[in-house]
Amino acid sequence: MSRPLLAVSGLTKRYRRGGKSIAAVDDVSFDIEPGETLALAGPSGSGKSTIARLLLRLIESDAGRIEFEGGDFLSLSGAALRARRARLQMVFQDPLAAFNPRATVARVLDDPLRIHGIATRSERPRRIAALLDRVGLSADLAGRAIHEISGGQRQRIAIARAIATKPSLIVLDEAVSALDVSVRRQILQLLLDLQREERIAYLFISHDLGVISAIAHRVVILDAGRVAESGNARAVIGAPQSTIGKALVTAAPKLNRTSTQGAADRQ
Ligand SMILES: Nc1ncnc2c1ncn2[C@@H]1O[C@H](COP(=O)(O)OP(=O)(O)OP(=O)(O)O)[C@@H](O)[C@H]1O
Ligand SMILES: [Mg+2]
Repeated sequence: MSRPLLAVSGLTKRYRRGGKSIAAVDDVSFDIEPGETLALAGPSGSGKSTIARLLLRLIESDAGRIEFEGGDFLSLSGAALRARRARLQMVFQDPLAAFNPRATVARVLDDPLRIHGIATRSERPRRIAALLDRVGLSADLAGRAIHEISGGQRQRIAIARAIATKPSLIVLDEAVSALDVSVRRQILQLLLDLQREERIAYLFISHDLGVISAIAHRVVILDAGRVAESGNARAVIGAPQSTIGKALVTAAPKLNRTSTQGAADRQ
């Protein structure tokens, strides 16, 4: 068996609330293989975004291990951490909040190329045009401000920025949730194309089981910070075993389990 790209074990994060310590993430373990999509599902407050923030080391864990690309990710610091961070990127739900809205598209894409020393100043305009092309946008967009473009275009820019550093894993936290149905379908298709061509793995956080069955190979369902169940995405969504899994499937609006060609079937 190949070594997993990401191996999370015993991950725990507690917050103090009203004098009590509450585990937002409680002894969570999962692996992601290279080129695989693992979905994280669960009700609001179940710990999905906290796991994303722990993986990106935006917050510190209280316990647990994170192995990424074969090394102990939590022990990295300084230049070694910066270098490894280039391989683990994140796309948020709202790119307007993630970027300076007055920055130009070119500026947003120039930053990772410059910061990670990927291209020289003279090479960067060509690299930016290539990134825009890669995510299906016209090079003319480079001079536009982030607040001037559509939500779908902004999410394509967020994906272009994430792939600029040639990551092996992208964490997407509700990245398509704010988009309308047709734009959402196009962004999901872009993610599938990028995965096929570049073998990028995704940790795809979503409360939408329909989207998960369309894009994910496997799913982990969280309940109050703990793993309630996990397995093949279509198998779990088709026949959930846990109480929370059953509740999520029952609550999902017109989940069409027969007509979607799910990622789990394409393996
Ligand atoms: N900075 C914080 N301080 C205190 N509690 C927090 C903090 N961040 C998250 N929490 C708590 O941790 C738990 C998990 O929150 P988290 O944002 O990870 O949930 P989520 O699954 O992403 O929910 P949603 O689907 O609404 O985005 C919640 O009970 C939340 O209130
Ligand atoms: Mg969240």
